[in-house]
Parts: sequence; structure tokens; C-alpha cells
Amino acid sequence: MSIALVTTIAELRARTSEKLREVEASGGSKSLGLVPTMGALHHGHATLARRAVAENSVVVASVFVNPLQFGDAQDLARYPRTTDADLALLDEAGVDFMFAPSVEEMYPDGEPSIRVTAGTMGEIHEGASRPGHFDGALTVVSKLLHVALPNEGLAAPGGRPAYRAYFGQKDAQQLTLVRRMVADLNFPVEIVPVSIVRDPDGLATSSRNRFLSEQERTAALVLSRALGLLASRAQAHEPLDIASAEALVRSAPGVELDYLEVVDPQTLAPRAENCQDTPFTGEAIALIAAKVGSVRLIDNMRLG
Ligand code: PAJ
Repeated sequence: MSIALVTTIAELRARTSEKLREVEASGGSKSLGLVPTMGALHHGHATLARRAVAENSVVVASVFVNPLQFGDAQDLARYPRTTDADLALLDEAGVDFMFAPSVEEMYPDGEPSIRVTAGTMGEIHEGASRPGHFDGALTVVSKLLHVALPNEGLAAPGGRPAYRAYFGQKDAQQLTLVRRMVADLNFPVEIVPVSIVRDPDGLATSSRNRFLSEQERTAALVLSRALGLLASRAQAHEPLDIASAEALVRSAPGVELDYLEVVDPQTLAPRAENCQDTPFTGEAIALIAAKVGSVRLIDNMRLG
């Protein structure tokens, strides 16, 4: 195994700096990639990690189950923790450092009194169902982006910082909010979006999928099917008929639809023209969230 497991901020900064100096000494160009995760890694995460490895000379993947972004203590307690398997997966992807801090290392004074707030964009869709979730996620992403920023200076070819962080389009609202935070607060990092990774049957890969029974997993396929239906209608410039896509989801056994919304791809605000009965034009994203048994799943698809 060539990956190193690092648990403290001081060690992470020292080790990445050392590695970057080695890169420079051997004539390479210095760049750092960060892949923030909560562990229980699967091939969606592996895709982010491989992309980061392909584009940077040093790569850190963080594994931290962030208490701030869980509304429900039970959900936090049962979030899967699979450190050894995570380390092996990241090693296989070519990641240099797995940063797996304790809660005390990240929040030494308990819950931070100063936080990042996502604003109104964090109160719709996922935010409406999970109050405070995006404030918690942005706060830890902000910390991780600072924690992984090494002491060693990074070259900035073409004026862009050679510091990149990788986020999946699976969490479309999170990605949009992280980009907004980085732009609004001038973080010196490039946010790289990575397409959704799906299992062969269409189910978006997720750490929570392991909680689905065989029957629930089959029922869960209705999420990507409903999105696919909207995408094919959009492609044919037909009315989206969101109501019938919703009915399809509701017809699956044990599936409780939370929302299915067609939104603007940049702002994620609901489109004024939702194309329920009129031909679809332009571009949009369809967002879906549903509970399958006791497992909450989200997915999305680009339309147009
Ligand atoms: P987590 O759910 O572990 O996801 C880590 C990253 O992997 C996120 O950017 C997510 O969008 C991406 N990802 C997960 N499943 C994916 C899939 N099927 N296809 C593509 N990308 C996928 O998101 C979080 O953790 C946390 O909120 C975090 C950003 C780490 C902050 O705590």
C-alpha cells in the first residue's frame, strides 16, 4: 500500500508540503487535489478520486462523517463507517493521503459558533427536508478546503490556482452551493464537478444503498426511471408531464416521494416555465428525493 493514513491537521499539512517539495525537486509541476467524502466509499467516490489523481501531482481524500450536517442523531449513528475498505479503495485509485480526523480534531471546542450559512438557496429542495443540513455541509467543506491547503506554495499556471477540489453532480444542490461559497468568499480553489456514477441498472451509487433490501433496491430503480422519462421527453421537446412521472414513482411499493422538481441548472430555482403541458425548451435539471423503506435517496438528471 502506498497511501498514508493521516489523522491530524498538522501532520496532513506537513506531509502534503513534503510531497509537493518532492514533486518540485523531481521537475514536476505542483498541484493538489482534494476529494472530500464521508467514507463508506463506493465506485462513485472512486471516480472522483481517479479524476483527482489524473489531474494533480498530490491528492488528499478526506473521510469524515460530519455531525454538523446530520439533523437526526440516529441517522448520524447509523451512517456506515468502513475505514479499512475506504483506505484500500483510495490506495487503488492512486490517492496519496487519506485524511480521517476525529470529531475532536475537526471541532476541538465543540460545535463551532461561527458557521457558513447557505442562505435561501440552502432552504429549498434538500434543505427544506433537512433544515440546517447545507450550513453544516458548507461549514465542514470550508474547513476541509483550508485544512488541506498546504504550507507549500502552489504554482498558478494561467492565473488559476493549482488547488482543485472534486464534487459529484449526484449532490447537485451541494455542488451548486459549494461553487457559490467559493465564488462569494474568494476561496483560492477550483471546484471540479464530476458526473453521476450509476450501477448498471441505473441506480445512482450511494453509501446509503447498502441499507436497501433486495425488494427496496428494485423499487428504488423508479427514481432514475422517472428522471429518464423526463429526460427523453425533454430531448423530444415534448411537454414534461411531471405529474405522470410523479405518479410512476408513487406507484412503486414502499417508495414515498418527497419531491420531483424541474429547476434552473445554475440557480436550482424552480423554473417559472415547468413545461408540464407545454413543449420543453432550454435547459434544466430534474431533482428527485424519495424515501425507500427507511432510506432517503436523492438523484437528478440534466434535461435538454
Ligand atoms: P459523500 O456523500 O461521501 O460524497 C462525497 C462526494 O462524492 C460528493 O461530492 C458526492 O457528490 C460524490 N458522490 C457520491 N456518490 C456519487 C455518485 N454516484 N456519482 C458521483 N459522485 C458521487 O457529500 C458528502 O459526502 C458530504 O456532504 C461532504 C461534501 C464530504 C461534506 O461532509
